Amino acid sequence: MNAPIGVIDSGVGGLTVLKELIHRLPNEQFIYIGDTARCPYGPRTAHEVRKFTWQMAEALQNQSIKMLVVACNTATAVALESLQKNCPFPVVGVIFPGARAAIKATTRSEICILGTTGTIRSGAYEEAIKSLSSSSSIVPFACPAFVPLVESDEYEGEFARDLVAKTLEPLKKASFDTLILGCTHYPLLQKHIEAAVGNHIKVLSSAEETAEDVMELLTYYHLHQETPSTEPHVFYTTGSIPMFKSIVTKWLEIDEPNIQSIEFE
Ligand code: DGL
Repeated sequence: MNAPIGVIDSGVGGLTVLKELIHRLPNEQFIYIGDTARCPYGPRTAHEVRKFTWQMAEALQNQSIKMLVVACNTATAVALESLQKNCPFPVVGVIFPGARAAIKATTRSEICILGTTGTIRSGAYEEAIKSLSSSSSIVPFACPAFVPLVESDEYEGEFARDLVAKTLEPLKKASFDTLILGCTHYPLLQKHIEAAVGNHIKVLSSAEETAEDVMELLTYYHLHQETPSTEPHVFYTTGSIPMFKSIVTKWLEIDEPNIQSIEFE
């Protein structure tokens, strides 16, 4: 079916999921919205996050998308159910795929979840992991400083490395063999996170498993784009275009991305 797939996040984090989607589904056109101006969602109330998420979903519905990927754990935690019930297209979140990736990888059933304050407070990962393996032991850990670091394009240098190491210091006392990056911004900090927890820990994101779910649903609903789309991917941001462009260009390796502004009330 010749229609775009929508992808949403509070900012640039969902690009980590989009990268995997573009890789696995090269024929598809994607339209991405990053709500950079109102990022981070992590410290906001569930009510606010649900409202912002619905605004993005409705904007994409107006662009006739055939499927929506909520590439934000914080939004998935509070809005996925209502989106799945009410949208006229299939909606995929990132928490269940992330939980599944962790369960597949862990050998001792001891899983650490890094996430935003909102995601950790929601308990959505615990619920998803327990529904797959009730005996798992779970270490939830909120990292509120990480998203601003990524959004300000400062995720690569020494400052980021030191901040990540200091934030994750308390985890040295915890027992786990697998760590799930329960925020789509965190894969941009993956090398610092791996260095902080040690290379004996498996560090995973939900991107691959989410892409699996998207592919399965496209097949199930006969929505695949059979030949390469002639339309370019489009990126909308509510914030600064140059900042967004810098991260899209580096992370997705797209030279001249089509980036536009969008506003919500
Ligand atoms: N990328 C987001 C997530 O996966 C959002 C982070 C935020 O805005 O706080 O949770």
